[in-house]
Amino acid sequence: MARKCTPRYSWSRVDGMRIRGGRPLSGSVQVSGAKNAALPILCATLLTEGECLLGNVPALHDIDTTAELLRILGRAVDCRPPRVRVGPSTAALVEAPYDLVKKMRASVLVLGPLLARFGRARVSLPGGCQIGARPVDQHLKGLETLGARISLDKGYILAEAERLRGAEVVFDMPTVTGTENLMMAAALAHGQSALINCAREPEVVELARVLNKMGARVSGAGTAVVQVEGVRELGPFDHSIISDRIEAGTYMVAAAATGGEVRIERVPVEHLEAFISKLRAAGVAVEPDGAAACVSRSGQVRSVDVTTAPYPGFPTDMQAQFMVLMCLAGGTARMSETVFENRFMHVPELGRMGAAIEVSGHSAYVRGVGRLQGADVMATDLRASASLVIAGLVAAQGETLVRRVYHLDRGYEHMEQKLRALGADIERVAGLKA
Ligand code: EPZ
Repeated sequence: MARKCTPRYSWSRVDGMRIRGGRPLSGSVQVSGAKNAALPILCATLLTEGECLLGNVPALHDIDTTAELLRILGRAVDCRPPRVRVGPSTAALVEAPYDLVKKMRASVLVLGPLLARFGRARVSLPGGCQIGARPVDQHLKGLETLGARISLDKGYILAEAERLRGAEVVFDMPTVTGTENLMMAAALAHGQSALINCAREPEVVELARVLNKMGARVSGAGTAVVQVEGVRELGPFDHSIISDRIEAGTYMVAAAATGGEVRIERVPVEHLEAFISKLRAAGVAVEPDGAAACVSRSGQVRSVDVTTAPYPGFPTDMQAQFMVLMCLAGGTARMSETVFENRFMHVPELGRMGAAIEVSGHSAYVRGVGRLQGADVMATDLRASASLVIAGLVAAQGETLVRRVYHLDRGYEHMEQKLRALGADIERVAGLKA
């Protein structure tokens, strides 16, 4: 039964996850649609007045938030995951308010579409978050290069342009949402744009696929140089999104860390090559089987050095989860985080569970301790909360209570149900003190 898309968890109420670990996971789990593909594609609906249909959308807090934002921008949204329908509209509402943008940084993805379609946008600056400052200077510089006049007004970005003009935009570093914002803006600009030093993530490629379904002329997505030939207007789309490679990787680590054997359905192995290579180096068996993969681990985990990098490198969004596996290894692994400046918040929490991890600059040195103990721990961001759940599944002694799991609900659909189906002893605990 599809779930009504009303916000499920208020941010004020604090839910937790209680886990009794030490049970190897077994069975099969199905990966949901990719959150980081759904978010830009939902924002792309602002580029057309037509009705848009999206399939394989995961039931997540961030999807609810984006639906709320589109409604504020004048669109009727029937959000019943896995189906989302964005109704037709000629409304020209162009303001994305602070109280929504502060909940979800990806709200900045409405900036490019609103500016390109209506010539004006007023979007709250997203502000930083736990994993880093996460500025949007590349987004703004790129839009100015396309001819937008950008100013900051009481914490809001004000962007205006009669009509954007195609140009050459060079990013200082690969930025996923920066690339996505500029692709969407350039799609309705006058003339040809070349976007250089683009992010190459599969979610960027998926957005380009949808833009071309809408009548855009985007080529080169998935490489460092994306060409966009602007058109006058774009039509609606009906599209079913790709699987979530990070959710898939998270369950792969959970299977390996608990010493179980799990068949993961709908896993995009072609989007996880660098990660799977490191899993195998750590002694984990990954056997692709059509659109599925079987993951197991029988022997000792091996310590493996990892450096995160933009796609196709090892994903920063898998760093926290992989670290739990390295806590079980026989040596010391150096894990270097090069994408975000502060993405080791899970380290002190894992330390409460018996992990031995030293952070020095951008690197964490994870000395294998062989086992973890249950403890009360605090989630700080989406992927850190996933790593704490995995640590709880591993901890054979004691019980783990992961607090503030609203972080988890932003990016993992029905996680406790999926893990229970794999044999985990896990339950949601409502209304904890923060
Ligand atoms: C996207 O965030 C993802 N979110 C993140 O996933 C992911 O961790 C990140 O890409 C890196 O892969 C979505 O797609 C919705 P960036 P994004 O712009 O686009 C710096 C998750 O867990 N930068 O690629 O915000 C930035 O500070 C989330 O699902 C600038 O300096 O990340 C960072 O150091 C977390 N100026 C680096 O670039 C800018 O204008 C990469 O950031 C933009 C980015």
